[in-house]
Amino acid sequence: MSLRNVKVAIDCDDAARELKGIIVGYLKEQGVDVTDLDYQGEGDALYPEIGYHLAEQIRNRRFDRGILLCGTGLGMAMIANKVEGVFAGTCHDVFSAERLKKSNDANVLTMGSRVIGPELAKMIVKAWLDSDFQGGGSQPKVEQMRALERKSFHG
Ligand code: RB5
Repeated sequence: MSLRNVKVAIDCDDAARELKGIIVGYLKEQGVDVTDLDYQGEGDALYPEIGYHLAEQIRNRRFDRGILLCGTGLGMAMIANKVEGVFAGTCHDVFSAERLKKSNDANVLTMGSRVIGPELAKMIVKAWLDSDFQGGGSQPKVEQMRALERKSFHG
């Protein structure tokens, strides 16, 4: 197995601590450069603050890719997508995880600990990290997303 040599950040809320530990362990075993941000805020951070914190690290290019885990993966994706330059998607199957990078060029993957088990979560992470943006027919679509994002942030 050869997971990509990228700098990966990971974080979670209370609902996904166990899954985060499993994914961090898995990525380290595979030799992936993974950092557990473990954002606490004032000690009671909820998923919006935690997701926003990781997304800012992606925007600042401290990390190439981010993984956010909560109960469903949904709240984390919603907040990560509020940060400019961050494109996040929730995946609970391997096909979508691959497409999330190949078609959508997403730099953040989110998953829900209450939706899937750890073995499938590992497969999803691997499929996403092993994938690159494919360009081609997906190029103008992703460019359009970026243009609309610029409009949204800068008018
Ligand atoms: C629990 O706080 C739950 O709301 C959260 O983990 C997540 O599923 C939100 O989308």
